[in-house]
Amino acid sequence: MNVVAQAKQGKKGNGGRGGRQAYYERISKLDMAPLWEVLKAIIPDEPKTICAPAIWHFKDVSPLVAESGSLISAQEATRRVLVLENPKLRGQSRITQSLYAGLQLIMPGEIAPPHRHSPAAIRFILDGEGAYTQVEGEKTVMSPGDFVLTPSGTIHDHGNDSKKPMIWLDVLDVPTVNFFETCFYEHFEYERQNTRRDHADSLIRYGSGVLPDGTDTAQRNSPIVNYPYAKMRPILERLVRAGDIDPHHGARFRYANPLTGGWVMPTMGAHLSLLPKNFKGKHYQATDSTIFVCVEGEGATKVDGKALEWGAQDVFVVPSWMTHSHAARKESVLFSISDRPVQEALGLWREKV
Ligand SMILES: [Fe+2]
Repeated sequence: MNVVAQAKQGKKGNGGRGGRQAYYERISKLDMAPLWEVLKAIIPDEPKTICAPAIWHFKDVSPLVAESGSLISAQEATRRVLVLENPKLRGQSRITQSLYAGLQLIMPGEIAPPHRHSPAAIRFILDGEGAYTQVEGEKTVMSPGDFVLTPSGTIHDHGNDSKKPMIWLDVLDVPTVNFFETCFYEHFEYERQNTRRDHADSLIRYGSGVLPDGTDTAQRNSPIVNYPYAKMRPILERLVRAGDIDPHHGARFRYANPLTGGWVMPTMGAHLSLLPKNFKGKHYQATDSTIFVCVEGEGATKVDGKALEWGAQDVFVVPSWMTHSHAARKESVLFSISDRPVQEALGLWREKV
């Protein structure tokens, strides 16, 4: 029987529900499935996130992070981290569909040994003073609010020569890398890499409005290892003084790759914003699920009608396309990071203001 004849016979006899089910079972044996049963689910009219808005209050989570210091050493754990799992994605080691986040603890005198991996990482420092990260031989000493990059494939290690524990937020593009099944990892036996460049070397070389001779300006990763909060916050103050305050985001800048003007990394992009006291932001929607950190201040972000009340060092997440607005009770600074560069590169990113 040819295809047309088979289709006619199907119309006559097999159109009922039971007939369809039997048909689905038959095609399933050949690893096929009917598109019409799933079309609406896989191509919705607009983004329908499966993530939940969520917040991790530092006062609740930091004692538990500190407790992990007595359970396992940084050396044994490789990295001593509590993963922030989106409540709707438990067991998947992710805070959004595309990003991993965790709170890392490094105790005084500890070393987290060198390694490198395909996933790119950022650190945003929450607590402590004076621990360091080394990236490809540059040693940077970290303070709260610092934004530290370890791009894909770069050798990095951490250590704490200070007297206090340090906690930072790690964000990595692990789910994105694993979506493409492209992850490689390499561990090194030596305790720490040799320091070849001092603290702030890359910031001075590449973040001063000049570029050293021979700089490859096509690099998709920013060459700057640390964007220190002490240098970044005054920029926000200048924006506020000049009245450059967006009605949705407040006074905000984008962390930039000074070689290209683009995002700091191909997979993750970040902003820092200042919300003046009593700021009431307008509603905003964007397709990138976004992780926020309150660096200073106090306020609330309304996400789909539900208020996430935040204070200093709290971490919260706004899922894709959920309407949200920020309100600040005190002058507040918010750090934010998302997969927007990937969405833009693929022509998918969209916002609604
Ligand atoms: Fe790492």
